[in-house]
Amino acid sequence: MPPATSSSLHLLLLLFILSVLHPSASICLPRGSTSSPSSPPPGTSSTPPPSHLPGHPSPPTDPSLPNYASHLIEFFCNHTDFSDLCLKSLNNSSAVLKSPTNSTVLAALMKAVDVKTHDARSFAQNLSADPHFDAKTRELLHDCIDVYDDALDNLEAAKEAIRVGDIGTRDSMLSAMISNFGTCEDGFAEFSIKSPVEDWSETLQSMTDNCLAIINMNRIHDDY
Ligand SMILES: *[C@@H]1O[C@H](CO)[C@@H](O)[C@H](O)[C@H]1NC(C)=O
Ligand SMILES: *[C@@H]1O[C@H](CO)[C@@H](O)[C@H](O)[C@H]1NC(C)=O
Ligand SMILES: *[C@@H]1O[C@H](CO)[C@@H](O)[C@H](O)[C@H]1NC(C)=O
Ligand SMILES: *[C@@H]1O[C@H](CO)[C@@H](O)[C@H](O)[C@H]1NC(C)=O
Ligand SMILES: *[C@@H]1O[C@H](CO)[C@@H](O)[C@H](O)[C@H]1NC(C)=O
Repeated sequence: MPPATSSSLHLLLLLFILSVLHPSASICLPRGSTSSPSSPPPGTSSTPPPSHLPGHPSPPTDPSLPNYASHLIEFFCNHTDFSDLCLKSLNNSSAVLKSPTNSTVLAALMKAVDVKTHDARSFAQNLSADPHFDAKTRELLHDCIDVYDDALDNLEAAKEAIRVGDIGTRDSMLSAMISNFGTCEDGFAEFSIKSPVEDWSETLQSMTDNCLAIINMNRIHDDY
């Protein structure tokens, strides 16, 4: 492939990523922004992307290539704190593989938390019926089941908020879920009992945190 072609494809990719993140980015930079000391001079199409974009992802060159989607998935997951968990969560999402956008990624990450919370709930239910655990531990596990239910209610509320375009409610419901999972662990901590569901709680919090990170990819650009 001649260098000129590959660099114009590179530019197309950059424009595409910018349009995914911020449709107006190419025509309307934030006014009064002082945070761009390294702004490229106009007309230099082959300069590196601005610093808020990943350095040099190996760019997908053609949307019809099978690894085009996986590069974009990697791009989104690179913006989360638990990127391995993010990649794993999106692995089987046909909607994301078909069209990896912030919205499909968020929806798939929320779906993955949903599935994982149900798994955690049945795990806790199993343990709460296990006579090897003392009565207090089993009682605390029942409390965890209750807060998992609260988390699932909050997740439904977040989904509904997305449907009606209420981003404030969406964000507070997702944040509430992180507290819900923490409440389960707090119960064990209060009685100095080692939580048998600690790993689950931590994973669920990380997965919810990843949802918020995808949401915050936009906020970084908008809040200037
Ligand atoms: C996705 O990006 C678009 C365009 O920047 C933005 O309007 C929308 O709010 C974003 N969605 C999410 C879930 O962050
Ligand atoms: C994601 O991050 C990894 C490690 O920092 C980097 O090698 C890769 O190019 C990034 N991918 C994308 C698509 O940004
Ligand atoms: C998704 O995970 C399955 C099994 O866990 C694996 O076989 C497959 O290669 C993964 N796909 C991608 C795109 O990573
Ligand atoms: C993805 O699908 C494979 C095979 O269907 C399954 O083994 C794996 O657990 C799934 N991964 C996730 C994260 O759901
Ligand atoms: C709970 O126990 C049932 C019956 O023993 C088992 O089939 C299931 O896999 C267990 N669930 C979890 C999450 O451990």
